[in-house]
Amino acid sequence: MKIAIASDHAGFEAKQKIIDYLKSEGYETKDFGTYSTDSCDYPDFAYLAASAVASGEAERGVLICGTGIGISIAANKVKGVRCATCTDEFCAEFSRRHNDAQMISMGARVISVEKMISLVKIFLSTDFEGGRHNRRVNKISAIESGENPLNIKE
Ligand code: RB5
Repeated sequence: MKIAIASDHAGFEAKQKIIDYLKSEGYETKDFGTYSTDSCDYPDFAYLAASAVASGEAERGVLICGTGIGISIAANKVKGVRCATCTDEFCAEFSRRHNDAQMISMGARVISVEKMISLVKIFLSTDFEGGRHNRRVNKISAIESGENPLNIKE
């Protein structure tokens, strides 16, 4: 499975450690930056990694900024991307089981790198449940396309 990964300056050090973890587990990674702790703008890196997920170049994505929030908001503006900001294992698991999130975002100023790796491990090994959740995810896509989700029954 190919993983797109990106961060801003606040998440740079955690990103490097997560890349090391992913490689040690045999995942192929593509690092979209940032490449130092110099101050930068998280939307730039969210866009690059999220575009790789949206195009199918990568199956999943991992994003890190200070809170995990800004980089997630930016990633979710890329059509087709569902990025979940997670701070615990329960949310990491259910972002996959119920929301079919392809990207996880985390905050380097919120949780430890060890915690992030624990969440990433769950995120990458949990399947979407489908069923009624499929209809709900389809409604998210409908909103993205300017449709009214109340008009969608299946
Ligand atoms: C950078 O200072 C910080 O604003 C950024 O990493 C992130 O937390 C934004 O949501």
